[in-house]
Amino acid sequence: MVIQRLAVVGDPHGAWDDSDAVLLKLLRPDALLLVGDLSDGHPRIPSLLRRLSLPTACILGNHDTGRDPTGQTLRRQMEVLGELHCGWGLRELRPPGVAVVGARPGTAGGGFILSPAMRAVFGPLTLEDSAARITAAAFAADPALPLVLLAHCGPSGLGSDPGDPCGCDWKRPFCDWGDLDLALAIRQIRARRPVPLVVFGHMHHALRRGQGERRSLVVDRQGTVYLNAAFVPRHGHDAAGRDLRHFSWVELDCSAEQPGVALVRSVSHRWYGLDGALLYEERLLDRSLSAAPVAAPHPVVPC
Ligand SMILES: [Fe+2]
Repeated sequence: MVIQRLAVVGDPHGAWDDSDAVLLKLLRPDALLLVGDLSDGHPRIPSLLRRLSLPTACILGNHDTGRDPTGQTLRRQMEVLGELHCGWGLRELRPPGVAVVGARPGTAGGGFILSPAMRAVFGPLTLEDSAARITAAAFAADPALPLVLLAHCGPSGLGSDPGDPCGCDWKRPFCDWGDLDLALAIRQIRARRPVPLVVFGHMHHALRRGQGERRSLVVDRQGTVYLNAAFVPRHGHDAAGRDLRHFSWVELDCSAEQPGVALVRSVSHRWYGLDGALLYEERLLDRSLSAAPVAAPHPVVPC
């Protein structure tokens, strides 16, 4: 087995700076994934991401359009990110050896809705068009690499309660706010190859009107792990005044005997100090032999 350690950034909304780059040098994950909503269309964070030496893949979210219906802001963000952006596309990260396939960029969830900015840039695509693009990107991936789907909003089918990973918590009736095109693509991809991991954000961890916290992780009957990484704000501090930086952390067991086959070994929300110390951890999944805690359980809301 080869273990890949993936650091996942959920919905920064501006909370990304040089301290994160310094921290990543200390933590040394094998790759970095960002699920979008970097900011409201400002190029600062895309520019910083381009300077990272770490293998990185990113997809843009609805906020990254900057509420600019002409699509110019979205185009600029994609241009600044360059090859890092994998919306509707494939980004093979070697090292560590993982195929990242992007879902539909710019989504705000809700099944299938194309914003004016998205229509301006990509045209009047249908749900089926979008699913076909995601599926084609996955089929183009090297079968010897494990597949990770990177999305801004997760797929439909993960539950209709407000606390589910893509559950609508801001209006009644509560409903499944996941994306239908991504769900369709996952079904199509699975006909040919397994999907061990889907990571996304958009639906923040803290539910509206004090309804509690969102469930971050689901494992379905086929063994696919779905992770909502959107802990917002991801920069904060604890009661002792220590600065905290949030990452979701995934360990992927990659089979040496069966290239392309992988199992998600562990998933957690982690809050690090600026010196790299793991200060708080919320374990979401742990299939490792040793399940001894390595940090304090996370406080109610550390930020
Ligand atoms: Fe979003």
